[in-house]
Amino acid sequence: AQTHKILVLPGDGIGPEVMTEAIKVLKAFESTSHTFTLRQELIGGCSIDATGKTVTEEVKQAALDSDAVLFAAVGGPKWDNARKGLDGPEGGLLQLRKAMDIYANLRPCSADSPSVSIAKEFSPFREEVIEGVDFVVVRENCGGAYFGRKVEEPTYAMDEWGYSEAEIQRVTRLSAEIALRHTPPWPVISLDKANVLASSRLWRRVVEKTMKEEYPQVKLVHQLADSASLIMAVNPRALNGVILADNTFGDMLSDQAGSIVGTLGVLPSASLNGLPGDKTLKTRPYGLYEPTHGSAPDIAGKNIANPVAMILCVALMFRYSLNMEDEAQRVENAVRKVLDSGVRTPDLRGKAGTSEVGDAIVAAL
Ligand code: NAD
Ligand code: IPM
Ligand code: MN
Repeated sequence: AQTHKILVLPGDGIGPEVMTEAIKVLKAFESTSHTFTLRQELIGGCSIDATGKTVTEEVKQAALDSDAVLFAAVGGPKWDNARKGLDGPEGGLLQLRKAMDIYANLRPCSADSPSVSIAKEFSPFREEVIEGVDFVVVRENCGGAYFGRKVEEPTYAMDEWGYSEAEIQRVTRLSAEIALRHTPPWPVISLDKANVLASSRLWRRVVEKTMKEEYPQVKLVHQLADSASLIMAVNPRALNGVILADNTFGDMLSDQAGSIVGTLGVLPSASLNGLPGDKTLKTRPYGLYEPTHGSAPDIAGKNIANPVAMILCVALMFRYSLNMEDEAQRVENAVRKVLDSGVRTPDLRGKAGTSEVGDAIVAAL
C-alpha cells in the first residue's frame, strides 16, 4: 500500500469540529492501496496558549516533511490583542504559507463542484444570474501586502505592498496551466489596480509579457479589481475562467464567491507550490488544504458548523497532492448526494449537526 504522511492542523474555533469530520472521510479511504499516517499539531491561538508561539519551528518542519497538510482555521476574540507582525494566530498560517512557499491559492467556485450545485437554492442571487458560474480564483499567496515590511506605531501604521517580477511570473504560469487543463481552455482574467498602484502596474506588465511569450493560446483579460467585484455580483458568468489576483484582491474576491453559493461553509481551497507534474519544482511538491472560511467564533462549540468546505479540502488534497483523482470525485459525489438529500447544517437552513453531516457523507461514499 502507498502510505501518505498528512499533517493535521485543526486550529481554533470551529476548526477542530470540522476537522474531525474531514478525518472521518479521509479514514474511509484507507484500503489495501492507500494508508494515511496522521500527525496532529497545534497552530494559531491554541498554539500561543500552549507554547507561546503561533507556530513552532517543529510544526513548520513537520509541514515540510509531509505529503500534504490539512488546515482548518485559526483565530478568535481571545487572541485579538496578540496580533503583531506575523505573531498572532492568523500569522501562524501566514508563516506556514511562506515556509512551504505555496505561492498559489486555488479557490474554486465551479459549476461541477457539489457546493455550487446547491447554489440555486441558497444564493441570495436569482437563479439566472448564477447559473453556469464556473471559475477558480488563483490568489497569489506568499507576497504583496501580507508579507511586506510593517510599521506599527500608536498613530501611524504601514504595510508595504510589493511584488517582484519573479513572484508575478510564477503565479501567472500556474494560472495559465490551470486554464489549459480546462476543456475548453479557460481565459485568464487578471485583476489589478493598475490605474492607482505601482505594484499593480508591474503586475499587469509581467502578466501580459509572460502570457504573450509563453501562453499565446490562452486568452488574457485585464480587469480592474474593484469592478471585478461588481461583475461578480451582477454577472458572475462574465468571470468564468481563472481569476488571477494578488494576495489582497484574491482574499476579498474569494470570500465574495461565498455570496454566490450563499455560505462560506462549502468552499474549499488548495495552496500549492506547483501543479502535479510540474518539472520546474526544486523542492518536493507542497500542498496545504484549508476552507475559505475562518474559525467562526460566533458558532464554535455548538456542533452546527458546516463541515463541507473542510471535507471538500480532502477531495482537493486527493486531486492535487496524492494523485487520487477517482477518490477526489467520490468525495465530491458523496457531498453532492448528501446536500441534495437535505442533510444540511443551519447555514443551509438545515437541521443537521456538524457530525451528522460528516457521518452522512461517509455513509454516501
Ligand atoms: P469567518 O469565516 O470565521 O465567519 C464569517 C461568517 O461565516 C460567520 O457568520 C460564520 O458563522 C460563518 N461561517 C464561517 N464558516 C462557517 C461554516 N463552516 N459553517 C457555517 N457558517 C460558517 O470570518 P470572520 O468572522 O471574519 O473571522 C473570524 C476569525 O477567523 C478571525 O479571527 C479571522 O482572522 C479568522 N479567519 C481565519 C481564517 C483561516 O484560518 N484560514 C480565514 C478567515 C478568517
Ligand atoms: C484566508 C484568511 C487568511 C488570509 C487569514 C486568516 C490570514 O482570511 O485564508 O482567506 O487573509 O489569507
Ligand atoms: Mn480570507
